[in-house]
Amino acid sequence: MGNNVVKWSSHPGWPAQLGSVRVAAGVVSLRPIRLRDGSVWSRIRTRDRDHLQPWEPTGTGPWEARHHTSNWPGLWSTLKSEARKGHMIPLVIEVDGRFCGQLTIGNIIRGPLRSAWIGYWVAKDVGGGGVATAALALGLDHCFGPVGLHRVEATVRPENLASQAVLRNVGFRTEGLLERYLDVDGAWRDHLLVGITQEEVVGTVVDRLCRAGKASWA
Ligand code: ACO
Repeated sequence: MGNNVVKWSSHPGWPAQLGSVRVAAGVVSLRPIRLRDGSVWSRIRTRDRDHLQPWEPTGTGPWEARHHTSNWPGLWSTLKSEARKGHMIPLVIEVDGRFCGQLTIGNIIRGPLRSAWIGYWVAKDVGGGGVATAALALGLDHCFGPVGLHRVEATVRPENLASQAVLRNVGFRTEGLLERYLDVDGAWRDHLLVGITQEEVVGTVVDRLCRAGKASWA
């Protein structure tokens, strides 16, 4: 019984500190979310509302209220609890040691599927500097390495050209269109489904970026 409990609660790949990769914007690394991230999370997400809201699931209540610092402890606690159960890996994206966004690996399923989804956002003031591409590469290498997954998928709105470029940069293939898939920014929005399996990665995803001249190990 005791052994079964230990086995059930084990979660390869959590907690994790990942990096570091140098891109135009600076040195990118990933680390677990912290309780003390609340004020910077609130400040960036409130300031960057126009940049984020068109692409994110519709929430209950006004954006400002949902992103008040006082909401972070509850969110942090829920994400950490999911992480401890092995369902999720909630990470902060840092650039030169500064909170600049989040990358989350969710719906981790083991057994014969060994799959998960991945999602991310990056602060507007470091946009276009390769941060999301580097963070996604680090996240994918983690999924196919320590986490032991076989497939990672993501969904993205057809209008979100920047995110599609990021997904292409790290090797995701488009698998199809999910019609009226998700309630985003107040309406049911079509999403492209993209996927990648472990066999498609030769070496590591970060190495592939380095070979393409988009990043270097820091
Ligand atoms: N049209 C086409 N391509 C564009 C555009 C555009 N309007 N704007 C930027 N790009 C390209 C850039 O050229 C670059 O591609 P390249 O490397 O091939 O030249 C790519 O988009 C951006 O790459 P990065 O610099 O690595 O990405 P960045 O750090 O700027 O982050 C992101 C991109 C995550 C989309 C950021 O803008 C963001 O957080 N947006 C709001 C939230 C969001 O959209 N999150 C993703 C939701 S989908 C998902 O999570 C799977």
